[in-house]
Amino acid sequence: TNTYYQEQHRPQFHFTPEKGWMNDPNGLVYYDGEYHMFYQHYPDSTVWGPMHWGHAISKDLVGWEHLPIALYPDSLGYIFSGSIVVDENNTTGFQTGKEKPLVAIFTYHDMVKEKLGRNDRESQGIAYSLDKGRTWTKYEKNPVIPNKGDTDFRDPKVFWHEASKHWIMPLAVGKKLEIFTSPNLKEWEKASEFGLKESVNDGVWECPDLISFKTEAGVEKWVLIQNIGRGAINGGSGTQYFVGNFDGKTFTNDNSPETKLWLDYGADNYAGVTWFNAPNNERIYIGWMSNWDDYANLVPTSTWRSGMTVPRKLTLINTPDGYRLAQMPVKQLETLRISSTNIPKQTITNTLSIDNKSVLNELDLSFDLSASTATELGFVLSNSKNEKLIVGYDKTSKQIFIDRTNAGKSDFSSKFAKKHKAPFNDVKELTIKALVDNASIEVFVNGGKIAMTDLFFPTEDYTKIELYSKGGNTELVSGTIHPLKSIWVK
Ligand code: FRU
Repeated sequence: TNTYYQEQHRPQFHFTPEKGWMNDPNGLVYYDGEYHMFYQHYPDSTVWGPMHWGHAISKDLVGWEHLPIALYPDSLGYIFSGSIVVDENNTTGFQTGKEKPLVAIFTYHDMVKEKLGRNDRESQGIAYSLDKGRTWTKYEKNPVIPNKGDTDFRDPKVFWHEASKHWIMPLAVGKKLEIFTSPNLKEWEKASEFGLKESVNDGVWECPDLISFKTEAGVEKWVLIQNIGRGAINGGSGTQYFVGNFDGKTFTNDNSPETKLWLDYGADNYAGVTWFNAPNNERIYIGWMSNWDDYANLVPTSTWRSGMTVPRKLTLINTPDGYRLAQMPVKQLETLRISSTNIPKQTITNTLSIDNKSVLNELDLSFDLSASTATELGFVLSNSKNEKLIVGYDKTSKQIFIDRTNAGKSDFSSKFAKKHKAPFNDVKELTIKALVDNASIEVFVNGGKIAMTDLFFPTEDYTKIELYSKGGNTELVSGTIHPLKSIWVK
């Protein structure tokens, strides 16, 4: 695409809608050489409203082409979040020619029932496409799962389970998960529940995703990604995950209900899920860069509101505490690099300015912590208005943090100007990969064991980058900065 967006704060290498409101990624599916991304969309305003599914495609997960809106609200309700599968074996019977049916499974949210105070406002519907996702037909017998009285009953994330030869649907129901199974995507049976013991947060569960990994020993492990509307570790909405097993009907947690694992420690990564059918069975994840509590509708953007994270590859790593998720930006994003500058190995005694003029950057830093006498170290992005964003390691509290308390505009919400923290226990080395767009940062620590995503809105672009070491010296083992190009400019 050669669309060219220049509004202030418009992300340059992150997906944003052409205009209007966007929230969750929906219907992530790879089919016939194309990565599809649908998304919660209200085209007529920059605040949340009657939900449609917007649509975009990518050949490489880097550049995106906007396509027409795929699903419109109808008499059954708004089209809330959901997923898309490739019906390889035509279990639905929707196939008529050579194209495999793409089947969307989504939540209908009935505003009429909501206004009447009825609980049965959410149900699950399906729609199919026989032309590579270009046009969609809603199933005439919708809903396929009616509501029996649960107010929150949504966000189906369906996958094919080869071992049991069934479709599996994790569904968020109140403050827990329900799992449904089906032979044909039309008739569904409830198989199990999970999470009653795990639900100590104040928010409802939303947008689950149940995915499997092969461990190095060749054993299958399952991860339940679970988005939670409120009460996340750094405030508001956030994403937990659980590691365990799945037998075709029931998910069991390897850890105690008290073990809280967070997929992202920043404030601005929500409703993320993975692609169905990604090449090489990779788990490719993308999230919505915002927070419902409480500024999603308030951030200072103009013609559009919100962007997605970069696509990230999830892996499962074996740690002394058990299996944990790690995540890194997908390799394809390296094609955004314009050039590469090394920051030589050296001792940082106070501050070190990086010679760089670009606003869009990929920054790689590696510090030797065992040789460091500093109490705090990291880097600062700033502008001539003295607004700054700090990313650092605090040795005393053993935390990685992003500090946006003085990062620019924040008067739109009292919840925005904060410092976000993640526990960090490695004592030997600290490697940081940071992807800096003009209104967001994504930080990946020690190979992606920790991820943090935060928005910021400086009144003037950050063009200055400085490394720092406080209270002592720090050995910079290696450093590289890559100015990045925009995906929107041809
Ligand atoms: C998560 C969410 C989903 C719902 C959608 C509505 O951000 O609340 O649970 O389906 O957004 O837009």
